[in-house]
Amino acid sequence: MPPPGTHDQVVPILDFGSQTAQLIARRVRDAGVYSILVRPSITPEELRAMNPAAIILSGGPASVFEPGAPDFNPQILDLGVPILGICYGMQLAARHMGAAVTPASHREFGRASLSILNDDPLLRSVPDRTTVWMSHGDQVSGLEAASLVPLAATSTCPFAAVRSNDPQRPFVGVQFHPEVTHTPHGADILRNFLYEIAKCRGTWRMADFAAEQTIAIRVRVGGDRVICGLSGGVDSAVTAALLHRAIADQLTCVFVDNGLLRKNERTLVESTFRDHFRADLRVVDASRDFHSDLAGVLDPQEKRRRIGARFIKVFSDAATGVKGARFLAQGTLYPDVIESGHGHAGHSAGIKLHHNVGGLPKDLPFELIEPLRELFKDEVRKLGEVLGLPDQMVWRHPFPGPGLAVRVLGEVTPERLDIVRECDEILLEEIIAADLYRKTSQVFAVLLPVQSVGVMGDGRTYEHVAAIRAVETQDFMSADWSRIPYAVLERVSSRIINEVRGVNRVVYDISSKPPATIEWE
Ligand code: XMP
Repeated sequence: MPPPGTHDQVVPILDFGSQTAQLIARRVRDAGVYSILVRPSITPEELRAMNPAAIILSGGPASVFEPGAPDFNPQILDLGVPILGICYGMQLAARHMGAAVTPASHREFGRASLSILNDDPLLRSVPDRTTVWMSHGDQVSGLEAASLVPLAATSTCPFAAVRSNDPQRPFVGVQFHPEVTHTPHGADILRNFLYEIAKCRGTWRMADFAAEQTIAIRVRVGGDRVICGLSGGVDSAVTAALLHRAIADQLTCVFVDNGLLRKNERTLVESTFRDHFRADLRVVDASRDFHSDLAGVLDPQEKRRRIGARFIKVFSDAATGVKGARFLAQGTLYPDVIESGHGHAGHSAGIKLHHNVGGLPKDLPFELIEPLRELFKDEVRKLGEVLGLPDQMVWRHPFPGPGLAVRVLGEVTPERLDIVRECDEILLEEIIAADLYRKTSQVFAVLLPVQSVGVMGDGRTYEHVAAIRAVETQDFMSADWSRIPYAVLERVSSRIINEVRGVNRVVYDISSKPPATIEWE
């Protein structure tokens, strides 16, 4: 029986700093096998203690020739565990086995055509010619010295996939990136590695993660009390739901109403956590403080600064006021854990924690619990579903910490907040009715700091302008504006102008990011 919080079939990935290392873990988990990133300096003993079903060596931005380029302990190759090296990971491993790595005569970046040379379980069901995604300047040569045989080649890379002939070293390597969608058969290749070569069972499900984390949380928390701040967003909601499953009434949730929330945001949190989960939920209504901090402030950065400072004060007061609390739970996700020293949860070796404490002071008297720190956003949503959170919460678009304050351009007043709240509510109703909520990444209304002339009935009006923003994005670093059908825009516009007092004009934002940002402030 594995210890709580671990998995009987785990695939650690040695992360050499590749931007897509996280994606490899994702793909492996998608294939039903639990996977996590570990730092490359992990020792063979630490790896053996994890009882891995297989090991993956990720790509990385370095060249193996660079001084100080990341490396791994070559004894890992002798653990007898199937190993897949990807790009840089393959080059490092091949070098340790005795092959040469040389600068390629033609660097390959982007799509390349791969030809399969030798039938192999790694490439089962992959067509003889297929597209793969390459990103390398060095390549492996001199395979014989390393007991490696070529499996596939591109026009400039003769050893684009290799296998070890040494039965003591079940190693395969690919120079291309099977984890990216630009390699159409990449997921098949990863599955072949997991199922055909490493004989993984593929039985891991998100429900297992929930069950294992539940036990791990119980063991860690013992009889103590945990505080979990709720923001209304999916990450903190899933964290709280998981903790509630684990420790029920030892959990206290704290929700700060900053008076900058969307309509019904507080009600949704209350109905989910107080009524549905019957959790101890403390709602701190600090709207007045936030509003008075914002009076007369026009500069967006100053708004953010004041909101942040007030939040820290209100949350810290509320949290330290919860008697007997020893832990603070946070919904930190993998993408928040940016540095390379990622660790296997439960293993001590050199783990560096980065948390999205939203600037919470480090001297708060709590130990951190971050049960989602190995997961990606869409995995968190899956977990939310497993835990029984309502769809409305699980699929919620992100909402910025400073809330509507950065969507009321210019001065933030309770009246102007009410106007943007009403516009936003109508917009969301229509987007949901048109079945566009899940197809868009973020949709919201912005109140502009200008007034415009209009005519209503027989009279002239001089009222507010609302802007509508809808974007589609994968990572929120870049985004395209959504092509919302005219009919939907028409309904939104007509409803806002008819139903929201003080607005006589609606405009649609057709700027992409970059150069615009998603929020207006
Ligand atoms: P931008 O406007 O930079 O937004 O394109 C990218 C994403 O970040 C969110 N955002 C924020 N989130 N505090 C937050 O917690 C902030 O100050 C903040 N500003 C922008 C934005 O909603 C989008 O999802």
